[in-house]
Amino acid sequence: MTASELEVNNPYLPLLLPIVEIIEETRDIKTFRLQGDSLFSYLPGQFAEVFVPGRGEAPFSITSSPTTEGILEFSIKRIGTVTTALHRLGEGEKIGVRGPYGNGFPLEELKNRNLLFVGGGIGLAPLRSLINYVLSPQHREEFGEVFILYGARSPEDLVFKWELEKWQERKDLHLLVTVDRGNNSWKGRVGLVPQVLKEEVKVEAKEWKSIVCGPPIMIKFTIKSLLEMAFSPSQIITTLEMRMKCGLGKCGRCNIGPFYVCQEGPVFSYEVLQKLPEEY
Ligand SMILES: Cc1cc2nc3c(=O)[nH]c(=O)nc-3n(C[C@H](O)[C@H](O)[C@H](O)COP(=O)(O)OP(=O)(O)OC[C@H]3O[C@@H](n4cnc5c(N)ncnc54)[C@H](O)[C@@H]3O)c2cc1C
Ligand code: FES
Repeated sequence: MTASELEVNNPYLPLLLPIVEIIEETRDIKTFRLQGDSLFSYLPGQFAEVFVPGRGEAPFSITSSPTTEGILEFSIKRIGTVTTALHRLGEGEKIGVRGPYGNGFPLEELKNRNLLFVGGGIGLAPLRSLINYVLSPQHREEFGEVFILYGARSPEDLVFKWELEKWQERKDLHLLVTVDRGNNSWKGRVGLVPQVLKEEVKVEAKEWKSIVCGPPIMIKFTIKSLLEMAFSPSQIITTLEMRMKCGLGKCGRCNIGPFYVCQEGPVFSYEVLQKLPEEY
């Protein structure tokens, strides 16, 4: 095999893409917009490994919608080595991306259903890809009503404020934003997402599917609320953030029960998740 054939067949080789825009979402979350002519195609809910030369790589949900061609977006919270290195980069610099990985949201199962999105903190990032897919002119008619409940610890911790404003103006969805603690200028709802869900979202459960993503504790109590609202486990879909390395089903790092989360996940129904060991 020649060196160039090796390059073509190497699944670990990232695409090098320029950062065309960086949006400061909160004090520790930035959205990176990348551009490329020959990007891979992907589904909402899939993720990619993002590589910073000299610092390593880490998995991130693709937050852009596949309906926005030529663009890839990641919203990244600064936590450790790779994410800090990413936050130090500027517009015009290049980063590596390999993917897409994972199963993505079950689009066929969601078609013709009403969709209740419940997001917490940066958990809105994977949901945003599906929300913008559903709201796109190409696909809006394939789905029923859309309700988005989004919460964060404080108004300063809300991500995608610029897009929440656009969603708020649309007549074909309901958006409810809540914060755990308000401030002097916050005029919106104050309350924890699982509680607000039960108090404010009055839907006939059997006609809906709910897609949930956020910190583990929020997911746990949101699922409890949804079950109390008569959602069945198969009507609740969530996405997991396991530790991962290869993304290719090879290293075994993301294994839980019978699954490699990087391949069979990260999107699972609660019907499947409830059969896994308690810690997941
Ligand atoms: C499928 C998937 C999608 C993801 N999507 C996003 C996203 O859209 N935006 C985003 O900001 N992050 C996302 N993450 C989490 C992201 O991968 C981690 O924050 C990242 O790997 C941290 O890398 P680091 O080198 O900066 O941190 P490290 O230096 O490796 O670690 C810093 C600290 O964070 C802890 N840590 C690292 N990774 C994880 C993890 N996966 N879960 C819990 N604790 C962890 C470490 O134990 C350590 O305490 C996703 C993870 C997965 C698996
Ligand atoms: S991350 Fe290597 S097998 Fe899933």
